[in-house]
Amino acid sequence: MSEFVMENCTVNASGHLAFAGVDTTELAKEYGTPLMLLDEEKIRENARLYKNAMKKYFTGNSRPLYASKALSYKGIYRIMQEEGVGSDAVSCGEIYTAKSAGFDVSNMVFHGNNKTGDDLRYAVRVGIGRIVVDGEEELEELGKICKEQGIRQKIQLRITPGIDPHTHKAISTGRVDSKFGNAIVTGQAEKITRAALSNEGVELMGFHCHVGSQIFETEPFVSASAIMMEFIADMKKKTGFEAAELNLGGGFGVRYVKQHPYFDYEKAIEELSVKIKEQAIRYGVKMPDIMLEPGRSMVAAAGITLYTVGSVKEIPEMKNYVSIDGGMTDNPRYALYQSQYEAVIANKAAEKADYICSIAGRCCESGDLIAENIPLQKAKKGDILAVFVTGAYNYSMASNYNRLPRPAIVTVKDGKSAVAVKRESYEDLIRNDV
Ligand code: LLP
Repeated sequence: MSEFVMENCTVNASGHLAFAGVDTTELAKEYGTPLMLLDEEKIRENARLYKNAMKKYFTGNSRPLYASKALSYKGIYRIMQEEGVGSDAVSCGEIYTAKSAGFDVSNMVFHGNNKTGDDLRYAVRVGIGRIVVDGEEELEELGKICKEQGIRQKIQLRITPGIDPHTHKAISTGRVDSKFGNAIVTGQAEKITRAALSNEGVELMGFHCHVGSQIFETEPFVSASAIMMEFIADMKKKTGFEAAELNLGGGFGVRYVKQHPYFDYEKAIEELSVKIKEQAIRYGVKMPDIMLEPGRSMVAAAGITLYTVGSVKEIPEMKNYVSIDGGMTDNPRYALYQSQYEAVIANKAAEKADYICSIAGRCCESGDLIAENIPLQKAKKGDILAVFVTGAYNYSMASNYNRLPRPAIVTVKDGKSAVAVKRESYEDLIRNDV
């Protein structure tokens, strides 16, 4: 058992933090900081867990589709492809990245509440597996594009089940007032289903919903699936169309800090399968192929970020700031959602963590913090700080604010490390400036 929130983090014989068995202070020396580290085996383990559980508990072509918005770079698509896991994309940039890595985009679904005509044309042209159509304007435009290209595109329709999972407002998406999808209660879901069935450019395969992210209970997923199965039955009755696919989106929670519960993904999948089968029998519809789109739970706990400590500012009786050479530009999640993180001084990992401090980034912005009032080993300039569970929605949400280059990503596997994404240079920053 690791004393840290991540099992793959331990203290080695030198008293340093080891990540997947490798001394993090050595990695910081070799590659520089800020540095994102990924435990490749952990990602593969998660991919297999989802794939095997879905094969075991669901029927037909049920499968996980990695939600690549959580972390998108060429190497991650190669890993998913090797593990036999599909992917979702939410932009042509993600599709392009996947394609460039040799990923088979016929095993990819394309999301987005405002896909442009160019987006749709590109996705259809490259042979995307499914387009998850968000609204009627998109459906109409897609239909026209497909006719022009002489293609019948397989689609799913984004439905809003009207679930309010208890998560941060910004990452809850299944509510009726969401910007995404077509609500059942307003009649818009039925309307777009009818429109899709009479649109010759598309082939309706089924429905999609996504209730939200960082959810620790199975209940919202079970409720959403029950509502969706009822909707499938209702559409069968009213239109004769029986959905072959039900895509339940992503959202399984991740343990970022020790107070967070463990979430048993396989158990949740089993529970969902039992309920969905019950519903299928109850409503007299066939069991659809189930798709899940895990993002965070695939990669978050496979990543840590290393920084070098710069200044340590102590304001007597008030606050201690430990400033690092990264911050909201590589991890904006505390600034955006007040997300909790745990950290350790990697070169003092065996020492007691009794120094209460806030971790500040280097942006010209007071809100640029990674954590506030967390316990750490007494820090000083030159120390290496490691922040845990940063694999999801860190690098993918990183920016060049204040013209700070994005960090490198290094993967660790079998005791060896390799660059997966190079550190940005100043030259990279001005590449598009005229
Ligand atoms: N499918 C759809 C349609 C989604 O919108 C999302 C996440 C996922 C799958 C993956 O959900 P996950 O398994 O990762 O929870 N930036 C926020 C998270 C935004 C999630 C948006 N949609 C954060 O840093 O917490």
